[in-house]
Amino acid sequence: MSRAASTRARHYALPVPSDETAAASPGSARIAYAARAMPVLRIVAAQLAAEQSLRGLSIAACLHVTPETACLLEALQAGGASVSLASANPLSAQDDVAAALRTVGVAVHAQHGADRRTYYAHLSAALDDAAAAAGPLLVLDDGCDLVTTLHTTRRELLPRVRAGVEDTSSGVVRLRQMARDGTLAFPMIAATSSATARLLEARHGTGQSTLEAVLRATHLLLAGRTVVVAGYGACGRGIAERAAGLGAVVVVTEVDPLRALEATLRGFRVLPMARALREADVVITATGNVGVVRGEHLELLKDGAVLANAGHFDVEIDVKALAAASVATHLGVRPGADEHVLADGRRVLLLAAGRVVNLAVAEGHPPAVMDMAFAEQAMLLSWLATAAATLARGVHPVPATLDGRVAALGLAALGVEVDSLSEAQRGYLSSWQQGS
Ligand SMILES: NC(=O)c1ccc[n+]([C@@H]2O[C@H](COP(=O)([O-])OP(=O)(O)OC[C@H]3O[C@@H](n4cnc5c(N)ncnc54)[C@H](O)[C@@H]3O)[C@@H](O)[C@H]2O)c1
Repeated sequence: MSRAASTRARHYALPVPSDETAAASPGSARIAYAARAMPVLRIVAAQLAAEQSLRGLSIAACLHVTPETACLLEALQAGGASVSLASANPLSAQDDVAAALRTVGVAVHAQHGADRRTYYAHLSAALDDAAAAAGPLLVLDDGCDLVTTLHTTRRELLPRVRAGVEDTSSGVVRLRQMARDGTLAFPMIAATSSATARLLEARHGTGQSTLEAVLRATHLLLAGRTVVVAGYGACGRGIAERAAGLGAVVVVTEVDPLRALEATLRGFRVLPMARALREADVVITATGNVGVVRGEHLELLKDGAVLANAGHFDVEIDVKALAAASVATHLGVRPGADEHVLADGRRVLLLAAGRVVNLAVAEGHPPAVMDMAFAEQAMLLSWLATAAATLARGVHPVPATLDGRVAALGLAALGVEVDSLSEAQRGYLSSWQQGS
């Protein structure tokens, strides 16, 4: 057996949930399926379990309730933490996964389709559970709602919080504002600063799963259609590339000249939104910004145009303006798709009510993507257990050493070997004396 093959065999040989566990409920079966595709997280879980680096800590998490999240939380439990969970988005909450997690001792407060009041009640309940256990708290957030809850209605818990990790760009934007006005009371690590997360999660994960959601909800043939992608950041790049891969004509809209140039040189047309919309068969927003498709844009849309949002919050498409301009709305014409009929008879298909489409209509990032992202977050929390005391209040990047370690583990799990620097090469790169 080659070294690569034996490495792979060793990693895949790490414990995965048994068939008996998997059979306990539909949720546990889906968690077991995801776990089999998450070898890097399994390695990290085994390390945490051996070191018990999270013993005595409580972790309050606000994450999408998916099988992959369940694998992360079980890894944190294995490391000795007590864990509570609220859903980062009621539409992405998978009730069977929540039920399965409860059977293994995770306090889950989540319900698919919960209204806004219940959503915030769930966040508070997850904090209650975390606070009920003795010891310091760590938070794991996706969108910053848990952290803002701590700083508004649950301020009494702030002295217990040691640090946290934020999972998504929109959450990091809010954290930076909190840090800027001096509100943020503890250190937070921006998981989005990790090169591994940006490459895998935002680009590949969001790219593939967003296209999957659009296809599930519309059953369109994308080849030859015009797909407008708003925002050419990590997510937008992935979406644009996957759409192009399916044969779509891709048009990008941007506000950042560098990103717009990058999209142009990649071969995509770049247009202002008001021009792009006239050609659009499908519009996908991924900017993290508000009001990207607005009321005044509706008159530009072609009959049958599809609107979808892959950004974290449902603020990118003005859903209220669309409802106000509609003379009839046919809810659920396909799963996850509502048809709005405008006064002149044009029909616009809005996916997932403007909410994050790849999680609401599809299942989010595949386990192989979340494997490395969550392995990194598990390592981050384990590192924070001791390092938090040395960090100032504010937003911090992922330490570069940790990022590199996850990428190396990911490659090993895939059975990919890479070269390493020779002594001579290391010396050359760290000296300045040798020139031409
Ligand atoms: N759906 C998912 O699975 C998923 C995964 C990761 C991140 N996200 C979310 O997607 C959004 C984008 O994340 P990202 O990591 O790509 O962010 P990013 O900052 O890398 O990219 C956003 C891009 O949008 C551009 N932009 C901003 N306002 C614009 C406007 N009005 N019109 C056109 N372009 C505009 C910015 O210039 C930037 O290039 C965020 O809300 C993030 O939280 C979603």
